[in-house]
Amino acid sequence: MTTTPIAERATAVAARATDLSKVYGQGETQVVALDRVSVDFGQARFTAIMGPSGSGKSTLMHCVAGLDSFSSGSVRIGDTELGSLKDKQLTKLRRDKIGFIFQAFNLLPTLTALENITLPMDIAGRKPDKQWLDTVIRMVGLSDRLTHRPAQLSGGQQQRVAVARALASKPDIIFGDEPTGNLDSRSGAEVLGFLRNSVRELGQTVVMVTHDPVAAAYADRVVFLADGRIVDEMQQPTADTVLDRMKRFDATSRTS
Ligand SMILES: Nc1ncnc2c1ncn2[C@@H]1O[C@H](COP(=O)(O)OP(=O)(O)OP(=O)(O)O)[C@@H](O)[C@H]1O
Ligand SMILES: [Mg+2]
Repeated sequence: MTTTPIAERATAVAARATDLSKVYGQGETQVVALDRVSVDFGQARFTAIMGPSGSGKSTLMHCVAGLDSFSSGSVRIGDTELGSLKDKQLTKLRRDKIGFIFQAFNLLPTLTALENITLPMDIAGRKPDKQWLDTVIRMVGLSDRLTHRPAQLSGGQQQRVAVARALASKPDIIFGDEPTGNLDSRSGAEVLGFLRNSVRELGQTVVMVTHDPVAAAYADRVVFLADGRIVDEMQQPTADTVLDRMKRFDATSRTS
């Protein structure tokens, strides 16, 4: 995580997609998952991505995070064009600059919770910042579960391990695909509050896919996708304004 002065944060772009398209399959079975999407994710900002199922949210996130190839357009993380990187460089960029929180937690079953949290840093040969690690573990409420393996943890606890793993290395940008989708509302609120604090107080950049207006309200901005395109955007969302906007989508899709 870079410590950019607050005055500069307003304009700095942590990640940018330009005319990004992603087409799956060919001919009759062809699916245009992303259709010339251009979007900026500001540094030290918390952005939520919303939209109906199949609208391209996960595809957008995976392409911008360098996890998936795209058909055309370009993606930039910081000053680096992903299209210009070789596989090895892309792997290094993902490892050093990006944190992920997936809906399926992607924890290694043979490792303890703590080992899972520090794994990306262990692979990169980096020493964790002990104080930060303690803060992260305390905030996600895992202090008394660190020696448990994933199979010995509840779904919500596993998700909290995944959140701690993403935050532990202080990446430039964290991507979450429904990071609180499997949590009860209290644990979900804690995790979202922690993500928001890491943005406000530490300048962390977070991009999160969610279906939940309450979760989206933790963000600074919501980007709405439909049929692979960005159709709307909202600053300073509240659960009510997001819900209203979603109702209008439903009304449009019923009449079209
Ligand atoms: N590997 C794939 N092969 C073919 N089509 C795919 C593949 N992955 C996604 N798609 C299609 O691309 C479109 C966008 O999918 P995506 O997973 O990005 O949607 P989403 O907005 O994340 O939906 P959800 O809210 O259900 O997670 C969908 O129509 C989906 O069927
Ligand atoms: Mg998805």
